[in-house]
Parts: sequence; C-alpha cells; structure tokens
Amino acid sequence: MNIYLDTADVNEIKKYFDLGIVAGVTTNPTIISRTGKEFITVINEIVEIVKGLPVNAEVISLDAEGMITEGRELAALNPSIVVKIPMCMEGLRAVKVLSDEGITTNVTLVFSVTQALMAARAGATYVSSFLGRVDDVGGDGIALIQDVITIFKEYGIKSKVIAASVRHMGHVIGCAKAGVDICTIPSSLIPSMANHPLTTQGLNQFLEDWKKVPTKK
Ligand code: E4P
Repeated sequence: MNIYLDTADVNEIKKYFDLGIVAGVTTNPTIISRTGKEFITVINEIVEIVKGLPVNAEVISLDAEGMITEGRELAALNPSIVVKIPMCMEGLRAVKVLSDEGITTNVTLVFSVTQALMAARAGATYVSSFLGRVDDVGGDGIALIQDVITIFKEYGIKSKVIAASVRHMGHVIGCAKAGVDICTIPSSLIPSMANHPLTTQGLNQFLEDWKKVPTKK
C-alpha cells in the first residue's frame, strides 16, 4: 500500500517527503482553502517539493467542457499533475476525453461500487473511494474499499484504487489489510502510524539499563 499525503500544507509535505514515506499528494478545494493561498501557487509549491511524484489537483467546473478545459490547464503545469474529477455523468465525459489525450485522472467522491466501476470504465487512472464519509452516514467504508478491490481484480481493471477520507488508524490498518493500492492520509495521522507506546517504553528501558553497563577504565 502506497502512502499519499492528503494535505496542501507544504511544511508537512516537506517533513514527510524527507522521510521517504510519501508516494504522492492529494488535495481538494477544501484542503486548498485551508492554506489561504492561491490554488496554482500551492500546487506548484507541492510539485516542487515532491519532485515528480503524483500531485492531485481538483477541477471545480460542473460541466464536462469546463472540466476538460481546467484539466488540460492543470495537466500543462507539470507531468506529475493528476487531474481530480468529481464522480458524475459530466465528470465521466471529461475523464473519457482527458484520458484519451493521455492526461492522468482521478475520479473523486466515489461512494459505491457502481460509481467505481463506471469511473474505471470511463478511463480513470485512479478511483478515490471515500471511506470516512461512508462511515459518517452509517455505512461501512472498509467494506466499500474491499468490494471495489475485489471487482477491479475480478475484471482485470487497471485503474488504481485510492482509499480517501481516511480519519483514524483503524481506517489505515483496514486499508492495508484490504490490499488497497494507495491510502491517502491526513498528515496529522502520520505520527500515530510511526509511534507505539511499547516502543517508547522499550527504548526508555534500554537507555536505563545501558547506564548499568560497566565502562572501560
Ligand atoms: C482525498 O482525495 C479527499 O480529498 C479527502 O480524503 C477527503 O477527506 P474528508 O472526507 O476527510 O474531507
């Protein structure tokens, strides 16, 4: 499972990119709005930091023509840009045109297996299923991810599955066990993925015991 960062905070991206754990970045209009910066400026900053890794930037048009125009403009910024398109009929039309032009696309706001299948068939490079928001309305987000993976495998679908709307460690573990291609994770969750109280306790014990080791006179 590859780890993407679901943030546009360039300091957080820099910090975790330097650890070598990041395989890409996802943003959406809400995430961009939190930066207080202009959209293209932030996207260019992220592209600069992650040096060729995929950077997802979302269109805001609701009609296919507008999405196609925005998608072409975003793709022209850098080859590492992935154009995020919302799941809807107009979005599917845009994905078909953009993917035929060789532009990498990510269909976002996917909440059902049928939506995932349609996005893939339209030519999406990536399909983002939103597990946290499914859980929010009483559904089973991990089950959705598992079903999408099963169906893509069953029919030899090449689109990669992104688990999005990840809210806690249980989601991350569930995604890893489900065999998802990519899990896009808010940067606030990364420390919990690396830390464990028994590691801290074990290290403290080792350092305490080390004091008892005789030193050479
Ligand atoms: C990812 O591509 C999405 O933008 C993101 O995961 C949405 O997460 P949220 O449901 O926590 O807003």
